[in-house]
Amino acid sequence: MEMDLRKEFSAAEAGKKVCRIIQFAVKAGMYLLPWRTPEVMRGAGSSRKLPVAVSRKNLKKPLIVTGRTVSGEGLMAGMLETAESFRLSCVIFDKATPNPTDEEVEAGAAMFRENGCDCIIAFGGGSDIDCAKAIGAKIARPQRSVRQLQGRLKVLRPIPVLFAVPTTAGSGSETTISAVITENETRRKAALTDPVLMPKYVVLDPELTVSLPPQQTAASGMDALCHAVEAYINGTYNTKVERQMAVQTVKLIRANLLKVYADGTDLEARQKLQEAAFCSGRAFTRGGLGYACAMARPLSGLYGVSHGYASAILMPHVLRSYGEAVEKSLAELYDLCEMEEPGTAGNASKSMHEKAEAFIRWIEEMKEKLDIPAYPEMVREEDIDRIAEWTEEEIGFFSPVPVIRDRKQLREFIVSLLPGSAKPEASAEPEASLKPEESAEPEAGPKPEESAEPGEDADKGEEHDH
Ligand SMILES: [Fe+2]
Repeated sequence: MEMDLRKEFSAAEAGKKVCRIIQFAVKAGMYLLPWRTPEVMRGAGSSRKLPVAVSRKNLKKPLIVTGRTVSGEGLMAGMLETAESFRLSCVIFDKATPNPTDEEVEAGAAMFRENGCDCIIAFGGGSDIDCAKAIGAKIARPQRSVRQLQGRLKVLRPIPVLFAVPTTAGSGSETTISAVITENETRRKAALTDPVLMPKYVVLDPELTVSLPPQQTAASGMDALCHAVEAYINGTYNTKVERQMAVQTVKLIRANLLKVYADGTDLEARQKLQEAAFCSGRAFTRGGLGYACAMARPLSGLYGVSHGYASAILMPHVLRSYGEAVEKSLAELYDLCEMEEPGTAGNASKSMHEKAEAFIRWIEEMKEKLDIPAYPEMVREEDIDRIAEWTEEEIGFFSPVPVIRDRKQLREFIVSLLPGSAKPEASAEPEASLKPEESAEPEAGPKPEESAEPGEDADKGEEHDH
C-alpha cells in the first residue's frame, strides 16, 4: 500500500516535470507565432463610425454576430444607421447565447455562406465575440466540425476580416486568440486557440457599456483583473508587452471599477474599464491563465453563474494557495501599481511577503465592496471530482502556472473552500496566511523565468471565459 502511494506520488511529480519541459519548448515556439495587437477605434460614439472603416476596406456585406438582448436593446442602432448610409448590406445573426454552442456556430457560418457575406462584426459581450471568432474559423475550415477546430492551432487559415465591438469590459476576447465554445450535447466547454482568431479591428465605445448592471460590471471587471494577475504571475511566456499590459490592467481596474460600480454613467471611467479589458486580453493571450480562471469555467458551466463572478470568488484563494511561488510577482505588482496607502509605513519597510499578502487582501476588499461572496457556495459535493477533472484538463500541459496541481490536489483545494472546512483565510497575522498549503509545495520542475523587471514593463453582460 505504501509502495503504491509512493509510486503514485512519483508519477505525479514526473508528470509535472514533463509539463515544465513542454512549456519551455512552447516558449521557444511562441517567438515564431505572428503576435500583434488589434487596431483600436475608441471614444464615446465610436461604434457609429465603424461602417466607415468597413467601407474603406472595400467590404460590403458584414455578418453581424450578436445576442438577442444586445440586438433588442437597440445598441446597434447608430452603427446600423451609418452602415445604411454607406450602403453596407448587414446580415444579422442574433442567436449567440451566453455560452455559445457548436450548433450556434454552425448556424452562423451557414448564414454567412448563404448570404455571401465578406466580413464579420462581433457586437456584444465576450460570448458573442467568441461565437463570431468560431464562425470565422468554420468559414476558413468548412470541412471541419467545431469539435475538430477546438484545441490549439487547428485553424491555420485566415478567417474573414473580423471587427469586434465589445459591450462589456472584462473578457478581453476582443484581443485574444481564443474562442470558448460549449458542446451542446455534453455542455463541455473548450477553446479554439489560434492567432488567426484575433480580431483585426476593435471599437472601444464606452456608451455601449453604460446600461450594464452593477453586478455584471463588477464581475467582468474582476474577470479582467484575474486575467492580468494570472498572466503576470505565470511569467514563462511573457515579454515586456504582456507585463506592461498586465500592470496597466491592474492600475485601471483599481482606479475605476468601484467608481463605475457606484455610478454606471461615468463615461470616462467606463472607457478606462474597456481599456483594462483590452490590455488584460492582450496580456493573457500570450501569458496564459491559471487555476482561478480555469476552475471558474466548470463552475459557470455547472451552475450558470457568470465566469467573471466565479473567477473573482476563486482568485484570492488560488493566489494565496501558491504561497512563496508568487510572492515576488505579487510584490512587484504591488509596487508597480503604487498600492502603498499614504500615511502608512513606507514601501521599503514592507517585506516581499507582506506586499504579496497586501495585494491579495486588496482583491478581497474589492470583492467585498463589489458584493461578491468570499467562497464558492454554489459547489455541490457530488460535482467536486468533475470540477477537479475539468480544471486539470483546462490547464493542460501548456499553462505555465506558478505551481502545478494534480487532480487530487485540486480536489483538496475545492474541499478547503466549502462550508465546514478549515479555511486558509487571511488571519490577523499576515505572516501565517500566505504560507503554501501542504499540498501546494512548489514542485521541483524548472522555475518560470523571472516574471518581470520593475519598470518594464445577460447578453449585453454576457461573459465568457478563457
Ligand atoms: Fe476569465
